[in-house]
Amino acid sequence: MTTTLDPTETTHPTATASSTGSPSASSATLPSSTASVAAARERSAEIEARLATDPSGFRVLTGDRPTGALHLGHYLGTLANRVRLQDDGVEVVLVVADYQVITDRDDPGDLRGTVREVVLDYLAAGIDPARTTIFAHSAVPALNQLLLPFLSLVTTAEIERNPTVKTEAAAAAARHGRPMSGLLFTYPVHQAADILFCHGNLVPGGQDQLPHVEITRTVARRFNQRYAAAQPYFPEPDVLLAPAPTVLGTDGRKMSKSAGNALELRDDEDATARFVRRHRTDSERHVTYEPERRPEVANLLTLGAFAAGMTPEALADEVGAAGAVRLKQVVTEALVEHLRPLRARRRALAAGDGPDPLDVLREGNARANAVADRTLADVRGLMGTAY
Ligand code: TRP
Repeated sequence: MTTTLDPTETTHPTATASSTGSPSASSATLPSSTASVAAARERSAEIEARLATDPSGFRVLTGDRPTGALHLGHYLGTLANRVRLQDDGVEVVLVVADYQVITDRDDPGDLRGTVREVVLDYLAAGIDPARTTIFAHSAVPALNQLLLPFLSLVTTAEIERNPTVKTEAAAAAARHGRPMSGLLFTYPVHQAADILFCHGNLVPGGQDQLPHVEITRTVARRFNQRYAAAQPYFPEPDVLLAPAPTVLGTDGRKMSKSAGNALELRDDEDATARFVRRHRTDSERHVTYEPERRPEVANLLTLGAFAAGMTPEALADEVGAAGAVRLKQVVTEALVEHLRPLRARRRALAAGDGPDPLDVLREGNARANAVADRTLADVRGLMGTAY
């Protein structure tokens, strides 16, 4: 099986024509206003339609910060969708963003162990390393070198306006009582390097990805204007907005490892039952799907419906008057059933039956390095710094 992340490929048909705008007249870091979210939704629907007929026009780049094994929030939010894109014939490149782990902490823990768990989760969920490239960005020097010219293309004010940089800085301060690191400050530009090193033109994600990808678009556009005016070199990537809602944990807050409210993909069936049992509900007997008014019940319906391959509304109708106890039974059974093959694969892989996750990563690193070396060589050529 050949991968299409091919360093010998010389054309970049996905580069979009350079549009107007100079660094001084930019909307690079506008917060996601309702209008721009609506526009992004419309654009995502168009892209979904094109994906269905011609998946070969797209290269998806996305990934995860390896701070722990992946949980249901990752799975419903993005991992399942990545597997779907891969299986539909879209080229997918996954970055294990290990440098991002040290943006806001002094002790990253056992990074090697965590990275291994994340790769295991990818493989168990159905990511096929023969088609999809998985790499760690610290292992790809040329990708990281792109950060330098890219940093010259944005202003500090533009980075400061990025909502995620703001939130992350506040969160880091609250967690660790520390000021923002330079790496955290520049991470949206680092993400631009993650995306553009392989000419990624599609980034699946939630609304929070919009401002990031806007910075990537700005970097690409300004690079093209400055150094590749005759023929745009970098594509201006789009966000493919995920339909998935935010998955909540047992306590009704957003699921996250640090909140201690998550169900990890590697957890077993007993843990699944406990997770659902501990999950908050409300005192109304009749089960209805009302995400605004009844977020915890809606979350259980979302999880159960996803696992059972139906809509949350239909699941709510099915359970209805039987109430929350029945709902929890149904959700537990659906999750256990749905996750059974994933967990079996994961156990087998972890036990050494199948490829070693770190070998898969090394293979992906090699592919990513070949591509990044070529891109950096092109960039140096275009910038006039090839000696
Ligand atoms: N920040 C992303 C996360 O925590 C991971 C990531 C790194 C990423 N580089 C990226 C996502 C580029 C999309 C595009 O999940």
